[in-house]
Amino acid sequence: MKIQPVKSLNGKVRLPGDKSISHRAAILASMAEGETRIENFATSADCASTLNCLEKLGVEIKRENTTISIIGVGKKGFTRPESELDCGNSGTTMRLLAGVLAGQNFDSVLIGDESLSKRPMRRIIEPLMLMSAKIESKNDSPPLNIYGKNPLESILYRMPVASAQVKSCVLLAGLNGENVSGVQSPKSKTRVSSSRNHTELMLKFLGAEIEESFVEAEDGFVHQISVAGKSNLTAKNLDVPSDISSAAFFIIAAACLKNSEIVLENVGLNPTRTAIIEILRQLGAEIHTLNEREVCNEPIGDLRVRGNENFTPKVLTNKIDGVVIANLIDEIPILAIFGTQLENGLEIRGAGELRVKESDRITAVVENLRRMNADVEEFPDGFRVGKSRLKGAQIDSFDDHRIAMAFAVAALLAKGETEIIGAECASVSFPEFFQVLGQVVK
Ligand code: S3P
Repeated sequence: MKIQPVKSLNGKVRLPGDKSISHRAAILASMAEGETRIENFATSADCASTLNCLEKLGVEIKRENTTISIIGVGKKGFTRPESELDCGNSGTTMRLLAGVLAGQNFDSVLIGDESLSKRPMRRIIEPLMLMSAKIESKNDSPPLNIYGKNPLESILYRMPVASAQVKSCVLLAGLNGENVSGVQSPKSKTRVSSSRNHTELMLKFLGAEIEESFVEAEDGFVHQISVAGKSNLTAKNLDVPSDISSAAFFIIAAACLKNSEIVLENVGLNPTRTAIIEILRQLGAEIHTLNEREVCNEPIGDLRVRGNENFTPKVLTNKIDGVVIANLIDEIPILAIFGTQLENGLEIRGAGELRVKESDRITAVVENLRRMNADVEEFPDGFRVGKSRLKGAQIDSFDDHRIAMAFAVAALLAKGETEIIGAECASVSFPEFFQVLGQVVK
């Protein structure tokens, strides 16, 4: 993919459905009783992996463009798959389905592509084993052999990392628990959910008994979600908002190009996902929220972004660290590109989790920014970028969708042509990315 610099981004667009919410919609609709219609289901390859796995588990699914109909089998009504369940590139598919499969009365095997096969699974194996499922893995990485059991033992589990995938895995297993299962986030100084909360919102929407609390701990709070194993889910139609993580590429491209004005319609604005917008505003970007409303328990709205050349930050330091990182984790590659446009640059710390995403995103960001002539320093848990005049270069996507898209935006701001090797991996979350970008650039 070859990309030339542009002058501005203009127009009104509606981006595809949220990937995180779509995974959950498909899984919870399958576990519900009754038929669910899901509107604006994500077009991402990752969510297609989830649908394919669910079909192999005996779920009937009808697809009509982005409208999906699912006939629920109930929370323990899946059937033994005849072959391995292929999660492709999708960590969310594997970690969430592991929670579902742990509570079924059959054995199953979850596999993934080369990248997923290297990702850490100890984080879900540990709580599921504590719940009395048996799981075998290859050095704590996929493939995962899951020896399911029903009911599972209920536990109260404190996560060592703030992870929505681990939390969701335990909650989904907890639906087949004997009693009430709880999952706690690592301690934080304030009363916030340190990871995205789509699973608990949707479980509540479908009638599960969910409780949220903050447990006081020394010098801070622990966020806790629990689910009653006696909960049953009742099918209810679901409408998926546009993905704020996909919107971030357009927001930052428009914010950095003078004369841009873009409206992104129907974007998911769940507060556990909007840290990117708050931080961009604090760093001086002009982003307005319009038509705020709520759909299926999820806050949504439209975003209007205007371009700028010089940003006037409203904060004293351009360093991002601490509890906010988990709510921003998927947007850090594109935020790095924004950092190259800021007078004082940008430093990201406390983001070691980036090293175990679809690629080592710290290395991928640093290596590619260097190729584009940026001033950048790497740390074990993050990086620092200085204000840089980016130059077109050959970029390695590291087969990671968010790296390919972040550097496509960098290419728009650079001097000269950029070539992205392996850009087609954008389809993992956003197959239409280059086409939509082509429609709005000038
Ligand atoms: C996701 C959670 C995040 C995120 C991933 C999607 C989810 O991972 O990086 O892209 O849908 O739950 P962790 O919760 O493991 O950090």
